[in-house]
Amino acid sequence: MKVLGIESSCDETAAAVVADGRTVLSSVVASQVAIHRPYDGVVPELASRQHIRAVVPVVTRALAEAGLAANELDGVAVTRGPGLIGALLVGFSFAKAYAWAMGLPWVGVDHLQAHVHAVFLGDDAPAFPFVALMVSGGHTCLYHVTGPTAMTPLGQTRDDAAGEAFDKVAKMLELGYPGGVVIDRIAAEGDPARVAFPRPFLNQNTFDFSFSGLKSAVRRHLETRPAAPSAEEMADIAASFQEAVVDVLVTKAIAACRRQGCRNLALVGGVAANRRLRTRLKTDAQAEGITVHIPPPVLCGDNAAMVAAAGYHQLAAGRRTSLDADVFSRHPSRIAPAA
Ligand code: KG4
Ligand code: ZN
Repeated sequence: MKVLGIESSCDETAAAVVADGRTVLSSVVASQVAIHRPYDGVVPELASRQHIRAVVPVVTRALAEAGLAANELDGVAVTRGPGLIGALLVGFSFAKAYAWAMGLPWVGVDHLQAHVHAVFLGDDAPAFPFVALMVSGGHTCLYHVTGPTAMTPLGQTRDDAAGEAFDKVAKMLELGYPGGVVIDRIAAEGDPARVAFPRPFLNQNTFDFSFSGLKSAVRRHLETRPAAPSAEEMADIAASFQEAVVDVLVTKAIAACRRQGCRNLALVGGVAANRRLRTRLKTDAQAEGITVHIPPPVLCGDNAAMVAAAGYHQLAAGRRTSLDADVFSRHPSRIAPAA
């Protein structure tokens, strides 16, 4: 079953064709980073407009690279939420119209659960059940995954997402946008024990996270300094901040595995690219007899192959989204699977 996936929840317009939820036939991602960089963050209206420009060429390229004509597809999957409403609407409306015109079954999928499906697209897919740590620019959550369409949320961030904290701290340090990857780079030269930043919720009996207090602690640290930090001090601050985030993520992910009795842990989402997080998670998990599975780097950030993979399982289970369905910007309160 060949599924066309479409993703437009934030600042990437993406389309992909995936066979049977496992084999990526094509994956095209048009990034808007250059458009948003002058503003140090994503400008929702600019994102929507760029999605409108990009969606047709991106889908056309995805079909061409898969070597398929539209009538050789078996279904369409599209991100329904959470994300920026205007941005979501572009991909969602396009997918609806495309599926209707081509007479194809279609389904709207949850963006966070789609990130988890990225782990099935590489050579390192975990066996069920497993725990997934989903860390991106917009969300941070832990899932207990018992099947391709069975993900139970264990906890989520109560304020900022981990990637958001990376981006905001990078902005404070004037490192540019998006900042996660720059912090990753300069932190490698720094001393993670130089500044004792807080580890929010580390020892509390919850799988929820909170990163806004940590971000504020970095701001206070910078404000109380007599002068702007030197390059060496910047590296130490970046490393100390990163270590605090990594400590919390690693400790909670392993605790979740322990509580659920899982020996497999998936690390997914854009922040899964972070080298310190990958290394610490692997080392600490191994010491507990837990194996860590990470998708290929190109599938960690936003892409449509993960959307097609998530949609495949829903379509195969007979689920369909109705033509009058709408997008959603956020889950009502707790993370819940999309209808
Ligand atoms: O999954 P993603 O591409 O988009 C969302 O769904 O949000 O994640 C983007 C986030 C950004 O916050 C970015 O700074 C962060 O992932 N990120 C990183 C690294 N690479 C990307 N954060 C820390 N270290 C990295 N190497
Ligand atoms: Zn994402």
